Amino acid sequence: MASFDTLWNRKNTNSLKYDCASRYGKPEGLLPLWVADMDFPSPDCVIQALEERCRHGIFGYSEPDERYFQALRQWFSTRHGWEVENSWLIKTPGVVFALCAAIRSLTEPGDAVLIQTPVYYPFFESVQANDRRVVKNSLLYRDGMYTIDFEDFEHQIVQNQIKLFLLCSPHNPVGRVWTKEELTGMGEICLKHGVTVVSDEIHADFVYPGHRHLMFSSLRPEFQQMTITCTAPTKTFNLAGLQLSNIFVPNQTLRHSIRAEMQRTGYSQANLMGLIACRAAYESGGPWLEDLKAYLLGNLNFVRDFLAEKLPQVRLIEPQGTYLIWLDFSGLGLSNDKLNRLIEEKAGLWLDPGTMFGEEGNGFQRINIACPRSILQKALEQLTQIATKEV
Ligand SMILES: Cc1ncc(COP(=O)(O)O)c(C=O)c1O
Repeated sequence: MASFDTLWNRKNTNSLKYDCASRYGKPEGLLPLWVADMDFPSPDCVIQALEERCRHGIFGYSEPDERYFQALRQWFSTRHGWEVENSWLIKTPGVVFALCAAIRSLTEPGDAVLIQTPVYYPFFESVQANDRRVVKNSLLYRDGMYTIDFEDFEHQIVQNQIKLFLLCSPHNPVGRVWTKEELTGMGEICLKHGVTVVSDEIHADFVYPGHRHLMFSSLRPEFQQMTITCTAPTKTFNLAGLQLSNIFVPNQTLRHSIRAEMQRTGYSQANLMGLIACRAAYESGGPWLEDLKAYLLGNLNFVRDFLAEKLPQVRLIEPQGTYLIWLDFSGLGLSNDKLNRLIEEKAGLWLDPGTMFGEEGNGFQRINIACPRSILQKALEQLTQIATKEV
């Protein structure tokens, strides 16, 4: 079994998380728990497959073979009860790339695109950078739990003639794993109003006990026909730098639109090493993932206990999935600016401030718990500094 307790030095590896503080206007030496990659090596099966391919020494343009498709079909069938077909697949160098391609190919400049805030900030950026308009269906936050305001969801669609909805499932940063009723509820409204759904399911493999991730597209044949499902092995197996995601588009017309947009951007063959890593991970990485999930659950329990004992003013929004934890600091009664400053200057931490995810993130911070527990413990101990008297 992999030891997730091992400390790895990621400094001087061109890591965005560890080596790019000054580029982001941050002081050196902050303990980084922000960007969503993990401080764990990928499973051995992936490293071995990459090493073997490296030894061949020729890295020309490449296409996936039948074994690749087989690995994908098997993964989604056994893990998520979803039967995918080879012809549905579009490979992109990332999920955000796919969001942008979908936005450009399925809407016009000036059109409105629906998102559910607070949400992963590239959802805003992808819409705005492509000269479309963000329309928000804010999630409801009550008693430490986020739910969907269905009435507002439909109202925003009708009011703004929404053609495209970006669904985040499981949801980053609030950690919700949407139920069948919630997904079906949103799907029915989208179906009724002719809204295409881009379903970002990159966190699908990270679900805590008692919850089950459901692929939105798998719930109804009609949903399948109106949905672009964004998946990737990159969060699950810590492969973000290999830039490979698998986008499933069962509807031929939608698929052709997105392919045409990809052609306009000049992207064709996927990253060879991404393909190799993905195949190996989906074929043989399952047991490693189970161990990882058990470790992350331990980290989550650690955070919960730590906060209850040493920082009770900070509320953990109990996540149902993802390794990104959403913390409510409003109990400290600090402004966002002051909170951000204390986190950086007193606690020495680099977290993602809640407002990055929309104004609904006021008073929140997002923290990445996919690191050895000793690092997490150090980070939380540093965090207690923000609540000391001399603040
Ligand atoms: C919801 C969500 N979508 C997409 C991504 C990034 O995907 P990619 O690196 O494939 O663009 C992330 C990374 O944190 C994410 O949380």
